[in-house]
Amino acid sequence: MSSQASWVPSNVDLDRASPARIYDYLLGGGWNFAADRAVAQQAIAAMPWVRDLARYNRQFLSRAVNFCATAGVRQFLDLGSGMPTAKSVHEIAREVDPSCRVVYVEREPVAVAHSELILSTIEGTGIIEADMCDIDLVLGHPVTRRLFDLDEPVAVIMASSLHYVLDAEVAEATVAGYLDEVVPDSYLVLSHIADNEGVGSSEVRGLVELSKATTSAGVARSREWIGGLLADLEVAEPGLVYTSQWRPDNHLRLVTDLPVHASLLAAVARRP
Ligand SMILES: C[S@@+](CC[C@H](N)C(=O)[O-])C[C@H]1O[C@@H](n2cnc3c(N)ncnc32)[C@H](O)[C@@H]1O
Repeated sequence: MSSQASWVPSNVDLDRASPARIYDYLLGGGWNFAADRAVAQQAIAAMPWVRDLARYNRQFLSRAVNFCATAGVRQFLDLGSGMPTAKSVHEIAREVDPSCRVVYVEREPVAVAHSELILSTIEGTGIIEADMCDIDLVLGHPVTRRLFDLDEPVAVIMASSLHYVLDAEVAEATVAGYLDEVVPDSYLVLSHIADNEGVGSSEVRGLVELSKATTSAGVARSREWIGGLLADLEVAEPGLVYTSQWRPDNHLRLVTDLPVHASLLAAVARRP
């Protein structure tokens, strides 16, 4: 057993890698342990561009949050928020309007502990330790009730988190359930690992295989299945595309033919 730092929650097995901490390591964060770094190195071997995949996902999230805030959304529900390594959703949204409120939801104890530490002094933000599929718990939680007015639009964010919900029916019901509970002009922000593209598909399979050794296995799904989640929504241009192709900035426009772009599908859609 590795030695446990005082800030690490006592229920965490440091010898078992977790996707939240692997992702933190891939993004250059420091909230990870030897077991996470070992699996991250295997992930880099399985998919040499996996660091870019993580960065492009974060950059998509940033552009998508900016898009929703610019459209008038002031409440953001970040489901499977991860470690606050990179610029967090409240920082991005508050560049548009400082009054934006953000509820983070995470089930990984280290990510929750770290988020609590960071958010405790930031008004208008909060973290809930929960399974994001428990919609009643999340929306009825005192943190949500304190920060959100559910009669106002909410951006429901599932960035690179829904593919850890292995049961497809539960995953579909989770997306539909949140969208049922929020008012028109709310948004879904989604990115999900895809399994049906030629470029990079064997690397995606390698990543999925590796995830089975972590606290939370993942699953890649078809473009059709991912697109089906958006069926009752107004999908913003350019539609369901790879993270880097979603309203790219100038830098991304230069590099859109690399295989990194063929792994994570992304979309932003409005609830009519
Ligand atoms: C790859 S990270 C993505 C983090 C962040 N959303 C982003 O896009 O940068 C996926 C996160 O989802 C969390 N997660 C997976 N399934 C979850 C669930 N059912 N409930 C809450 N969190 C979950 C994991 O613990 C992990 O931190």
